[in-house]
Amino acid sequence: MEKIIILDFGSQYTHLIARRIRELKVYSEILPFNVSINKIKSGDVKGIILSGGPDSVYQPNAPKPSKKVEEWILAGKIPVLGICYGFQLLAYMLGGNVEKGIRGEYGRAEIKVLEENDLFKGLPQKQVVWMSHGDIVAAFKLGKLYGVQFHPEVKHTVCGREILRNFLFEVCKCEGLWDIGDIVNRVVEDIRKEASSGNVLMAVSGGVDSTTSACLIKMALGVDRIYLVVIDTGFLRENEAEKAVRLYEKLGFKHIFLVDVKEKFISRLKGVVDPEEKRRLISQLYFEVLDEKADELAKEYGEFKYLGQGTIYPDRVESGATGRATARIKSHHNVVYTHLSKLVKLEPLKDLYKDEVRKIAELIGVPKEVIFKHPFPGPGLAIRIIGEVTEEKLKILRKVDKIVEEELRKSGIYKMLWQAFPVLLPIKTVGVMGDERTYRYAIALRAVISEDAMTAEFAKLPWNLLERLSSRIVNEIKNVNRVLYDITNKPPATIEYE
Ligand code: XMP
Repeated sequence: MEKIIILDFGSQYTHLIARRIRELKVYSEILPFNVSINKIKSGDVKGIILSGGPDSVYQPNAPKPSKKVEEWILAGKIPVLGICYGFQLLAYMLGGNVEKGIRGEYGRAEIKVLEENDLFKGLPQKQVVWMSHGDIVAAFKLGKLYGVQFHPEVKHTVCGREILRNFLFEVCKCEGLWDIGDIVNRVVEDIRKEASSGNVLMAVSGGVDSTTSACLIKMALGVDRIYLVVIDTGFLRENEAEKAVRLYEKLGFKHIFLVDVKEKFISRLKGVVDPEEKRRLISQLYFEVLDEKADELAKEYGEFKYLGQGTIYPDRVESGATGRATARIKSHHNVVYTHLSKLVKLEPLKDLYKDEVRKIAELIGVPKEVIFKHPFPGPGLAIRIIGEVTEEKLKILRKVDKIVEEELRKSGIYKMLWQAFPVLLPIKTVGVMGDERTYRYAIALRAVISEDAMTAEFAKLPWNLLERLSSRIVNEIKNVNRVLYDITNKPPATIEYE
């Protein structure tokens, strides 16, 4: 399959480059800037993009590709597009001078195309572009090496999409075959190759990622080889585990097990307040439970070799498992701790973004209510209770969560949001109800709009909806007397609180 490799030099926009390219129907993959030549060259690589980044090429430790990759690039046989830092790096590698500009240039700028070339083919001579850099270098095209100082992946660059399209189709001669139907066939083929014999154990939650993953594995290996486990950690939303079991029965799965480990999880978390420690303990238990279940089922059904997971691309990115752009922000349970299980991982969705997963889900007949359900993190309500998790707090949060979902669905706003949920804060505040003083918990409401959870904007919910939510929460939930609305974007905040 044809693909474009993006070497990540740390720009906040690297992910946008990957997305824009996939939108143009070419598969793209982000790799760390210093990846080995063998890794880069695997598959049908049509071109390379060098991303932007915060460094300057003349700094002593400026990130550079590995020696072999540099030689390959400079040999000029493969098309390369350098963007911002990547552009300067290309100039530098070719022996050009990169000098510090008098001042940085951030935001809107206008460029004038002086000479016709493939990259700007069919585009106006004058264009508005988006700059974000501190250095300057003269623009150039040298053989198959192209560079732009501005960011074509950003929407403010008016012709950005066309410039990327020109790079893909005029310069790299891509065919644009990355298509959802083909992805399904390819993924199914890959599963067959990866898991030629032995049973697959798969933890499922009723969410779109694990459900789509399970359905693809079922398509590839048949219903007899996949065993679903719904783990009730006690951190799920109301009736979630039972609902999940019913869903998989409806989808025609044959082996479905509900494992109740509520006691185990809550007691292991006693006294734990640190977010990463919570995540670590939950993951550890989670994989322990799965391995035990695999051993137990093996006695009856034969050997279990694989663990199916619904991991998607952004999970790996945020866990620091891909390039340089994101340090480990938080340890997504199914990525960082997955080695704790002795089973071989089967992750059919690991290279896909959520919107791509949703398209596949639609194509293979996953019910709409699953596809458009808001994402729910693996560690569940445990990371929406800040500080120590207790039975009492879980009960409160579960009830508030139900009210929030009900009201959002009733108002029709649910489907416009990426996620919306309450968070139980570790503080109590004073209130007055009737003539009585109260001293109760405060709830924070989080509602965000996002394309892929890599960035998010807080939702500007109507005041009357917020008022209804706050009034229902404080009236119906005895231990809460205050509701706060979170008005922070990601970045700088993350979507979840822990
Ligand atoms: P953050 O909080 O990092 O979340 O902005 C980005 C998206 O990922 C979800 N999330 C998780 N999903 N396991 C998951 O399966 C996890 O450990 C996890 N942590 C966060 C979060 O709900 C949001 O959609």
